[in-house]
Amino acid sequence: MKYTVIIPAAGLGARMNLGYNKVLLNICDQPVIKRTVQQFVKDPDCQAIHLAVRQEEVESMTELFEDEEKVVGIHVGGKERQDSIYNALVNVEAEYIFVHDGARPLVDQAIIARLKDKVVNHPAVICGVKTKDTLKRVANNEVTDTLDREEIISVHTPQAFKGDLLKRAYEHARARNLTVTDDSMMVEALGQTVFVTESSYDNIKLTTIEDVRLAEMILGGKTE
Ligand code: CTP
Ligand code: MG
Repeated sequence: MKYTVIIPAAGLGARMNLGYNKVLLNICDQPVIKRTVQQFVKDPDCQAIHLAVRQEEVESMTELFEDEEKVVGIHVGGKERQDSIYNALVNVEAEYIFVHDGARPLVDQAIIARLKDKVVNHPAVICGVKTKDTLKRVANNEVTDTLDREEIISVHTPQAFKGDLLKRAYEHARARNLTVTDDSMMVEALGQTVFVTESSYDNIKLTTIEDVRLAEMILGGKTE
C-alpha cells in the first residue's frame, strides 16, 4: 500500500512557552519538524508529505524542506489543529491518508508499519498506549467514578484513514461545527468504527518543556 501523510505544524506552542513555534526547536541538533518529517521520508510506502504551517513560517519551512522531494505541499494552517489539517486535506488526493502531529518526532517505523497493515482492511485506524495511571472522573474536587484501565488508552498519532472517508468526516464535522481533539473523532461522528493499534510510550508529543528533556533522553538511546 502507498499513502500520503499530512503533518500539522501550524501551532503556537503556547504551553512550551519558547516565544516561537515549538516544532522549530532543535532537539539533538535537529529541528523537531525535520525529525518528524524524516520518519516518513524513510518509509518507502509514504509517497507524499503535506505540511500545514503558520503563514509567517511558510518561507522558513519551504527552505528547510527544499531538498526533500517527498515534501510536495506546504499549506497555510488555520486557527485550530483541525483547520490546519483541513487546509492541507483539500489539496490531497490519495487512497490512504495518514495524519501525524509535527510535534511527535519520536514516531518509529514499527508504529507506522502496524497502521499500514491494518488500514488496508479497516478504513480508520489509530494508535495508542495503555494508561499507566489510574484514571478517575472528578466533579467539584470529588471522585465520582474510577475508570476501568483495561477499557482506556491514551491516543497518539499517526492516525490512518481511507482517503475518501477522512474527507467525508472532515466535511461532515465542518458542516456541524464539531470541535475535535483528534481526527478519528470526526470518523466516529459518522458512525464509522475506528480500529486501534499499539503505539509506543516513546512516541510522546512535545507539549511542555519537560517533554523536550525526555525526548532528548529517548533519542540519546536510539540508533534509528
Ligand atoms: N497545530 C496546527 N495548527 C493549529 C494548532 C496546532 O497545525 N492551529 C499542530 C501543532 O503545530 C502540533 C500539532 O498540531 O504539531 C499538535 O498540537 P499541539 O501539541 O496542541 O501544538 P500547539 O497548538 O502548537 O501547542 P499549544 O496548544 O501549547 O499552543
Ligand atoms: Mg494546541
